[in-house]
Amino acid sequence: MTKTLTKPLTKTVCIKTYGCQMNVYDSARMADVLAPLGYRPVEEPAEADMVLLNTCHIREKASEKVFSELGRLRQLRQAREERGLGRMVIGVAGCVAQAEGAEMLTRAPWVDLVLGPQAYHRLPEMVARLAREGGAQLDTDFPAEPKFDHLPAPGPRGPSAFLSIQEGCDRFCTFCVVPYTRGAEYSRPAAAILDEARALVDQGTIELTLLGQNVNAYHGAGPAGASWSLARLIRALADIPGLTRIRYTTSHPRDLTDDLIAAHAEVPALMPFLHLPVQSGSDRVLRAMNRGHTADAYVTLVDRLRAARPDLALSSDFIVGFPGETDAEFEDTLSLVGSVGFIQAYSFKYSPRPGTPAAAMPRQVPEAVKAQRLARLQEVLNTQQILFNRRCVGLEIDVLLDRAGRRPGQLLGRSPWMQPVHVAAPAATLGRARRVLIVDGQPNSLAGRLVSPEIPPDQVANAGPGTARALA
Ligand code: SAH
Ligand code: SF4
Ligand code: F3S
Repeated sequence: MTKTLTKPLTKTVCIKTYGCQMNVYDSARMADVLAPLGYRPVEEPAEADMVLLNTCHIREKASEKVFSELGRLRQLRQAREERGLGRMVIGVAGCVAQAEGAEMLTRAPWVDLVLGPQAYHRLPEMVARLAREGGAQLDTDFPAEPKFDHLPAPGPRGPSAFLSIQEGCDRFCTFCVVPYTRGAEYSRPAAAILDEARALVDQGTIELTLLGQNVNAYHGAGPAGASWSLARLIRALADIPGLTRIRYTTSHPRDLTDDLIAAHAEVPALMPFLHLPVQSGSDRVLRAMNRGHTADAYVTLVDRLRAARPDLALSSDFIVGFPGETDAEFEDTLSLVGSVGFIQAYSFKYSPRPGTPAAAMPRQVPEAVKAQRLARLQEVLNTQQILFNRRCVGLEIDVLLDRAGRRPGQLLGRSPWMQPVHVAAPAATLGRARRVLIVDGQPNSLAGRLVSPEIPPDQVANAGPGTARALA
């Protein structure tokens, strides 16, 4: 991490984030990089001297959204100029910038900055060059020097923070653009991660979510030279005083090693919730996707995780209508969902992405069929989620109260399983984890009461066996 002299915050930047949590992390880091140049983050593009769109290329819809947003920004810029507020700088960062590169400037020639996910530490140079020379600035290199070595210390992030530990992907699932937009797998050295974690904890963070496109492929250099696994890193992070909750995402089933399963059994700070994308329940489709495992192998992995940590709950990602997917193969996905049981999930219609092998595969599935399958899958997944939320009623769990609720006197927090929990609680408990009795389970959230000594212990389910019962 580099130290930089700080100017007074006289300018404003609005960073709009699309896509995955890594983009959320990157947006916060871009704000860190721009702070020494005098930029203060604002929410509204209309108020901003600079607007950066941190974009996502994963599906066509996500990618196309960027261009309509750029059209709106062009009008906003004009309106600002007419009001004599000076010229708004418009930049595109993230995965669409990486994928489209110079094309971006042909489709939206009013854009000033185009920078890929591996180049944002160079924002200050790009901004200076823009001011000096004018004309669009483009940087979609994969620089040899890792960007993390050039970023300032992180600003305060609140009680729950993201920390990128690994980036890029070498798995090349045949549907996915990530290996092209984020590049090859890179793991940050453990010491740099531990430093960043300590800096966050010193500023009030108590929960960390470790991020990577394939986070459990982490193999960063350890302090003594030999490389550390994700499990080894988690154990070291768990030793940081004040860091009470650790999560990681997104994992690939193929890289979920024995030592990581053991960490789930042995590290209490590791939360009992895992996002483990499976994509499909059909072995033929999984092979065509190049996922490298069968449906049975996934189920066995889940069994082993649950044996290690009985209250572990799972979420997943699914793609319906992958090229060639038959009705019977789609039924295999439904039956996997039935046998595993997910408490939350994301499911998508397959979207052909330029340059990926699956986009050129024969037997593309018609949109209408994809839509029908998605609706059926989502019905099953939603039912599982609702049942789980209902079964949580009566449990006493730790909730990290991390933001204000919608109603006065209410805070919103996260359960160990990431469900949003509404709790009537004093403002002083904001940023703390508190024991909460769950009194209501809605489809997308829970409601609870702070546990006070008045609640007789026999009305409160035990955290251990009780939570396992909710998952049964
Ligand atoms: N690294 C993660 C996920 C990356 S993208 C992993 O390995 O699972 C997040 C999710 O988007 C994927 O899990 C997949 O379900 C979905 N996705 C990726 N490419 C897609 C495409 N071309 N069409 C539809 N969904 C896609
Ligand atoms: Fe994409 Fe597959 Fe890599 Fe995940 S593991 S980022 S889905 S290529
Ligand atoms: Fe999207 Fe890039 Fe993340 S394509 S999902 S923002 S890695």
